[in-house]
Amino acid sequence: MLDPRIKAIEHRLSQVNNIIAVSSGKGGVGKSVIASILALILAKKGYKVGLIDLDFTSPSTHLILGVKELFPEEKEGIVPPTFENIKIMSIIYFSKDKTLSLRGQDFSDSFLEILAITKWGKLDYLILDMPPGINDATLDVIRYIRKVKFIIVTTSSILSLATAKKLIDALNILKIGIIGIIENMKSEHTHSVKDKLDKLETEFLGETSFDPELEKCFGNTQMLLKTKMAVEMEEIVNKILNVKVYE
Ligand SMILES: Nc1ncnc2c1ncn2[C@@H]1O[C@H](COP(=O)(O)OP(=O)(O)OP(=O)(O)O)[C@@H](O)[C@H]1O
Ligand SMILES: [Mg+2]
Repeated sequence: MLDPRIKAIEHRLSQVNNIIAVSSGKGGVGKSVIASILALILAKKGYKVGLIDLDFTSPSTHLILGVKELFPEEKEGIVPPTFENIKIMSIIYFSKDKTLSLRGQDFSDSFLEILAITKWGKLDYLILDMPPGINDATLDVIRYIRKVKFIIVTTSSILSLATAKKLIDALNILKIGIIGIIENMKSEHTHSVKDKLDKLETEFLGETSFDPELEKCFGNTQMLLKTKMAVEMEEIVNKILNVKVYE
């Protein structure tokens, strides 16, 4: 029998124009920071923005943005609280500081549940902060959110790049749109990954530098928007707004 949550998700996302998964394959490359800053910049530009933290076991976006003591309102579903003009959904509202370790089907159930009950309303952009790995979350997102498009974050490390290429391959095979690649933690000692992407036919969206000041701005969106990383992201966001990805 068809899981009724699948239809519910379609309905809940029916007024969301663009859904962007910030993914990487490899862990710790800056997905959560980039997803959070992307949401902030889009909201600042006046777009209606939602952000969902799909890293159920180690959610981070609430810490990056400084979301505290908020809880969704129940109203024929749940309405994500608005913070800095962003509708933010995170498992942290329910799990608080408790450890939440989820294996396979339990992850999928939480994923289906949270997306089936969340009322986004009209949104221009919904940003998905993906957990690391090309596994449950990636497969569920592709399976249940057909209109999703991916931004892939990588560092210049061959370890990160090798996984990014695998993710690109998988998305191409499944005909899932890729908006492009962002190189994070760029330093003067690293070679740009741009030159290494030729054969992948994937848009290079730009670089964000390794920023030693970043960490102290977590929890304060005004400070965060002034970081070198956020300033560099502004240009990348303009590119994202203009990239045409096949449907
Ligand atoms: N441009 C940057 N400059 C300096 N530090 C950064 C930068 N980008 C991310 N970081 C730091 O790197 C760490 C990993 O960042 P983040 O949590 O966003 O990565 P992630 O890809 O979401 O990780 P995970 O795979 O665990 O979800 C954090 O401590 C973050 O503060
Ligand atoms: Mg993360």
